[in-house]
Amino acid sequence: MTNGRGHVRIYEVGPRDGLQNESTPIPTDAKARFIGLLADAGLREIEATSFVSPKAIPQLSDADELLALLDRRAGLRYPVLVPNQRGMDRAEAAGVDAIAVFTAASDAFASRNIGMTVEESLRTFAPLLRRAQELGWWTRGYVSTAFGCPYTGRVEPPRAVEVARRLVELGVDEVCYGDTIGVGVPAQVEELTGLTSGDGIRLERVAYHFHDTRGTALANVTAGLRAGIRCFDSAAGGTGGCPYAPGAAGNLATEDLVYLLEAEGWETGVSLPGVLEAARYVADVLGKPLATKVGQAGGWDPLTGAPVARAG
Ligand code: COA
Ligand code: ZN
Repeated sequence: MTNGRGHVRIYEVGPRDGLQNESTPIPTDAKARFIGLLADAGLREIEATSFVSPKAIPQLSDADELLALLDRRAGLRYPVLVPNQRGMDRAEAAGVDAIAVFTAASDAFASRNIGMTVEESLRTFAPLLRRAQELGWWTRGYVSTAFGCPYTGRVEPPRAVEVARRLVELGVDEVCYGDTIGVGVPAQVEELTGLTSGDGIRLERVAYHFHDTRGTALANVTAGLRAGIRCFDSAAGGTGGCPYAPGAAGNLATEDLVYLLEAEGWETGVSLPGVLEAARYVADVLGKPLATKVGQAGGWDPLTGAPVARAG
């Protein structure tokens, strides 16, 4: 169904953000299969893994092997997280063509997550982003803790915008504001988005990354849409959390996001039954029930009134 509202990009983070904090060992080929199901569902930007220290994120220490297993279809982007030169070298060797660098709005979080202050991280990223541009890669810069920090509390929107502007100045194609611990509310999204465009950052280059820790993720998406944002992150199965963000729970679930967008008439190119298949697959791999709203209820066919692709 569409009433011509336009296209919204869904940037899938399940394989990276969704799995990074899972203690159950996940075989590399299961990760590749999960990514294949996501691609089959029509997702075109799938953040595949991270080229970070294996001590920091043991679950993603197979990044090099995983990249070799991915089916590089035309029109599909598999960005990977890169924190430093070492990560960049590994990404180049693995043949990636899209990277995300990640800093934060707060020094306390950046220090714990990547062992650098925000300023130090921007200095580290500058040559990496220059190199990525030379190679013609797509680049994203995350501003984590854009709404609040687990160590220092509320983040004022102007601070988040300041970090976003610095990333744009370093040449990233897209900045993504992350609500790492899921504390943001729609009024904050509205304010942050307004300040961002007021600062001269075009909203086509801005994405939001919400966690549903306190049940505000979809309300925040709606606020973002109204303010002009057209890219949102989500994870099939609603998995996720960050080891350096105590209390961070799951990402906004891709199935919940797709349901909302399609029912409102946005075009996503993503099949809900396909996402549900990927979500069920990852839940099985993790040995957990699929606990997301649409994962349990299924979609809904307005012509027949019947649920679509409901579990079991
Ligand atoms: N890939 C693989 N190994 C790496 C690496 C990379 N990108 N960067 C560093 N390492 C290794 C070093 O070789 C070193 O190994 P050794 O102890 O065997 O000699 C060790 O990690 C420490 O390296 P160092 O440069 O001192 O970094 P650090 O300990 O200050 O850690 C980061 C800095 C950025 C590497 C680390 O904090 C990190 O990877 N963080 C990522 C966190 C994350 O992904 N969070 C979730 C996303 S929001
Ligand atoms: Zn996240």
